[in-house]
Amino acid sequence: MSRAVYPGTFDPVTYGHIDIIVRAAQQFEHVTMGVLRNSAKTPLFSTEERVKILEEVTKDIPNVSVTSFDGLSVDFARLSHARVIIRGLRAVTDFEYELQMAQTNRVLAPDVDTMFLTTSLSYAYLSSTTVREVAFLHEDVSKFVPPYVAERLQEKIEDLERKRRESGLLSDNK
Ligand code: COA
Repeated sequence: MSRAVYPGTFDPVTYGHIDIIVRAAQQFEHVTMGVLRNSAKTPLFSTEERVKILEEVTKDIPNVSVTSFDGLSVDFARLSHARVIIRGLRAVTDFEYELQMAQTNRVLAPDVDTMFLTTSLSYAYLSSTTVREVAFLHEDVSKFVPPYVAERLQEKIEDLERKRRESGLLSDNK
C-alpha cells in the first residue's frame, strides 16, 4: 500500500498547504498529516488546535488522516508505515532549506524518500506567518485560508487581545 506523510507546523494551515494535501492524496493511497509538536517555532495555535483545524479542513478527503508527532520526520514516516515524506516547494527560496532537510533525512533513513510537489502558482506567495500578520491587523484572510481557519484565527486573536488587555499590556481601543 502506498503511504506518505506530510509533516509541518501548519500554524495555521493555508490554501497553499491544502493544495499540496489534495494533490498528494491523489498520488497515494493514504496520506498522514503530521503536526510537529516541539518545533523551534513558537506557534500561535497549540498542537491540539492545529490537529483539530487540519482534521476539519481535510474531513472530505477520505484517505487523509491527521496526527501530531515529536522528534524526526523520518521516524514519524516509519511509524506511519510510509516510505515517502511530502513537502511543498513554493519558490527557489524554499529549495535550499528543503534540499538540506531531504538530504539529512536520506542519511538518517535511506528507506524513506522525500517527494516535492510544487505549490500551485496562485498560492506560491503564501506563508503562515503572513496570514497570521494579516489576521492580527484584523484584515480579511479569506483569500488565504478556508472560512473555518479564518474563524479560529479571529477567535484566537481576540482571546489573546483580551488577555493582554486584562494584564494591562494592551490599551482598551485594541
Ligand atoms: N503553501 C503555503 N505555505 C507553505 C507551503 C505551501 N505549499 N509549504 C510551506 N509553506 C510555508 C508555511 O506556511 C510555513 O510558513 P512560516 O514559516 O511563515 O510559518 C513555512 O512554509 C514552512 O512551514 P511548514 O511547511 O509547516 O514546515 P516547517 O518548516 O515549519 O516544518 C518539518 C518542517 C516539520 C518538516 C521539519 O521541521 C521537520 O522535519 N522537523 C522534525 C525534525 C526533523 O526531522 N528534522 C529534519 C532532519 S534534521
